[in-house]
Amino acid sequence: MNEQEKINAALKAVSFISSGQTIGLGTGSTAYFAIKEIGRMVREGLQIRAIPTSEATRQLAEEWKIPLANINDIETIDITIDGADEFNKKLQLIKGGGGALLREKIVASITRKQVIIADASKQVEKLGAFKVPVEVVPFAAHAVARKLNILNGVATLRVKNGSTYRTDQGNYILDVSFGLIDDPASLAKELDHITGVVEHGLFIDLADYIIVGRGDQVEVITT
Ligand code: A5P
Repeated sequence: MNEQEKINAALKAVSFISSGQTIGLGTGSTAYFAIKEIGRMVREGLQIRAIPTSEATRQLAEEWKIPLANINDIETIDITIDGADEFNKKLQLIKGGGGALLREKIVASITRKQVIIADASKQVEKLGAFKVPVEVVPFAAHAVARKLNILNGVATLRVKNGSTYRTDQGNYILDVSFGLIDDPASLAKELDHITGVVEHGLFIDLADYIIVGRGDQVEVITT
């Protein structure tokens, strides 16, 4: 993990933004640098409205006086800038290490240009060293864990500060090890069909650009 690489990726991503746009604000330590820079640009006159992907990001945006909009009042988002826990060259991602995967995926699903920012350590040949976060309705946690086991997934209930972790929606997260994943798209479809799964952290066909900080350079990966 390299902080300067995160900053470089974030600065490149915010250069895509212009006044009049609706911007999705991601969650996590890389998105943080983009949000901070957007705050600075707003102070200098940039006119945008933003949709945060988590309560943590909402707080940050409020601190930096970035105007917020209600997602239920808009139809599309022009650009979303978000991080990732892992990505491959096909622009497939694992997200949700910070627990915000549900709102992140909803925001991505209505975004025209989804821009992922990351340091070079997040790039992998095959996804899966990072466990796939699966958000579940608490009532279904055990039943879902058993179904995941049939798919060769080993699920661990996420715990934070000694208590079961709750998402912004009050759900649980199972962190699931599938080993290295040969076909992330078909695994994503299987996860989509498990009753009790609210959403999962495999982001397939959602990213349009991945901006990677690599040393003092930035690389833009696109389709
Ligand atoms: C939040 O739930 C995640 O999807 C983050 O986008 C992801 O975990 C990347 O976070 P970092 O930028 O902190 O690594």
